Amino acid sequence: MPPAPKIAEVQTEIDRLSQASGSVEDFMWEIAKLLHDRMGKYNWVGFYMLEEKPMSSQPRMLVLGPFQGAMTPHTRIPLNQGICGAAASTGKTIIVNDVSLDDRYLACSTETKSEIVVPVFVRGKVVGELDIDSHFPAAFGDQDRRLVEHCASLVGKQLEKSSG
Ligand code: SME
Repeated sequence: MPPAPKIAEVQTEIDRLSQASGSVEDFMWEIAKLLHDRMGKYNWVGFYMLEEKPMSSQPRMLVLGPFQGAMTPHTRIPLNQGICGAAASTGKTIIVNDVSLDDRYLACSTETKSEIVVPVFVRGKVVGELDIDSHFPAAFGDQDRRLVEHCASLVGKQLEKSSG
């Protein structure tokens, strides 16, 4: 099935930005802003990046990167916590249609009903993820998944290029 007109339009804009952005970080801010502003049900959009060198015995942490939406209490998330930790540690997209039914869920806003988290890969390794929360239950269908995975993959490609 072809993507809905709005998703196709947003994807075209993302593709344009991927050619035009000054740095990978700029591109990540632009993705967060565009998805947040244009996709009505994407109420919080942000990247978490995996800390490269943890303190010796500490678990590796996901650290909040570019985001749009209300400030979250979760600026650092251990890999063994939250939907975010689960997506990063398994390297798989996770969609939760009803966060109240998922024991892993770490609350960012009491209004959040559903969530999608998509890992970002560089040379086959997870380096971070794109996390989106919605105030609407089951807000993320197949087309949303494809759009968000496309964004995460463009960021991975840019990071790959910029790291030589
Ligand atoms: N809900 C996430 C935490 C991050 S906030 O949603 C921004 C989780 O369960 O990992």
